[in-house]
Amino acid sequence: MGAWTLDDIPWDHFDRGELDPDVVLIVKAASLVEYNGGSYAHHLCRIFYDDPDFQRTARRWGDEEIQHGRALARWAVLADPSYDFEFAFGRFQAGYRVDFDSEASRRGSRSGEMIARCMVEIGTSSYYSALRDGVREPVLKEICRNRRNPTLQALLQESDALPRARAARALTASPRRFRADCRSRG
Ligand SMILES: [Fe+2]
Repeated sequence: MGAWTLDDIPWDHFDRGELDPDVVLIVKAASLVEYNGGSYAHHLCRIFYDDPDFQRTARRWGDEEIQHGRALARWAVLADPSYDFEFAFGRFQAGYRVDFDSEASRRGSRSGEMIARCMVEIGTSSYYSALRDGVREPVLKEICRNRRNPTLQALLQESDALPRARAARALTASPRRFRADCRSRG
C-alpha cells in the first residue's frame, strides 16, 4: 500500500442528503484522537530512546496518523460547517492530559507497549471497516476505505520488543485467522 494525500479524496462527491448526525459526532471524536497521533509517536520515541531507526519510523507513522485526523476533520467541517477543529483539538488536549514525555511505558515494558499498539490498531481497523460498511455518505465511505497506514507494519517489525513475525502476522491476518491464531496459543 502506498502513501496517500488529502487530494486523493473525492471531496466534491460529498452528499449532505446522506448524513447521519450520530456519525458526524463520532467522526469529530475520531478526528481529534487521530490528530493527536504525533504525541503518541513522540512517546514511542521516548520509550525506545536508544533506537534511532525505530524512532524515525515512529515519527513517519505519527505523520500518517495526523493525516487521518486532517481527513476526518475536513469531512466533519463539510458535514458541520460550524465545527471549529482547532478549537476542539485545543480543548481535547487540555482535557486529555497524558505524560507523553515519559520514558516509562504505562504498559510496564516495551513489549507491553507494542502489544497494546497491536490491539489498538486491530480495534481501529475494525472501527473504520464498520463505519465504511455502515455509512451512506460517499466521501466518508472513501476516507474509511482508503485509511492507510503504510508505515504501521514497519513500526511493529522494527521494534525488537516483539517477535517480528508475530507482530506482522497479527496486523496482516484476517480477523478470523487472528482469532484462530490466538486460540492456538492458548
Ligand atoms: Fe489512524
